[in-house]
Amino acid sequence: MTQTRPRILVTRRLPPLVEETLQRHFDATLNLADQPLGEAGLREALATCDGLLCTLTDELHAGLFEGYAGPCRILANFGVGVNHIAVEAARRAGLEVTNTPGVLTECTADLTMALILMTVRRIGEGERLLREGRWTGWAPTGLLGHRLSDRTLGIVGFGRIGQAVARRAAAGFGMRVVGWGPRRPAAESLERLGVAWAGSLEELLGEADVVSLHCPLTSETRGLINRERLGRMRADAVLVNTARGEIVEAAALIAALQSGELAGAGLDVYWDEPEVPAELVQLPGVVLLPHLGSATVETRTDMGLRAVKNLRAFFRGEVPPDPVR
Ligand code: DGY
Repeated sequence: MTQTRPRILVTRRLPPLVEETLQRHFDATLNLADQPLGEAGLREALATCDGLLCTLTDELHAGLFEGYAGPCRILANFGVGVNHIAVEAARRAGLEVTNTPGVLTECTADLTMALILMTVRRIGEGERLLREGRWTGWAPTGLLGHRLSDRTLGIVGFGRIGQAVARRAAAGFGMRVVGWGPRRPAAESLERLGVAWAGSLEELLGEADVVSLHCPLTSETRGLINRERLGRMRADAVLVNTARGEIVEAAALIAALQSGELAGAGLDVYWDEPEVPAELVQLPGVVLLPHLGSATVETRTDMGLRAVKNLRAFFRGEVPPDPVR
């Protein structure tokens, strides 16, 4: 007797090994065009699949789950951030939600260090200068940045990625590292990482030469870095964001950079991706990357396989390894 396999709809193209694995275990519909489904496409998907393998380009808002009576029972998110999913509404409608924590920690931390180097050592500026044919040759005072080992890094949000950045910055680059977050780690962990703990976010902002954001986007962290808090930062400091754009107030950041109240920014995430405010593009001390945090073959493959693992466990009737509650 043949058993029907769960129908999984995959909202974007995924690395080959992930798509092959999905096809081996499920009745999988792939998105060969790789275009985000949009509202209508998501509604249709939810009306026809048993599980949705979705990602951050899918706006799964609460309206999609109001009075929901379709077959879909799980949203397996490809990615750790779930701010694009109305998790409570989905769960109320009887859908499980999972994500892919852990597997993108190292790559996102690497990219954070790249942004720190690109801003503090003015690497972004240097590269643009050369490509635009404006480089006139080496000069003792040309494009001087700052020595990383003389700088203090403030890490806002001290979860997996924040800690991985702390390890790199302290052990690899000799930076002084200060952390802050809602949960203070045990003294031994801080000591092992060589991290000092700030008494408050304001204290950290006032002390750091580089502030790097590593908190999830939630109702508490939306707009966390606002005009007032940007005003606490030193005028020669740099803000790095590899978490989510909405943690920072866009207008306040642009104003602080334009007025020179803040020296620079290294951004990998934005408020309305793929839109990037034109004002930021014009500022030389700002480095802008196209949401590359987890963008390596290895990590994107691991993320996909982790989503598959969640789906397989769920359809075997088990609690999936990464439920989002
Ligand atoms: C995530 O997992 O949320 C990342 O932003 C994807 O790179």
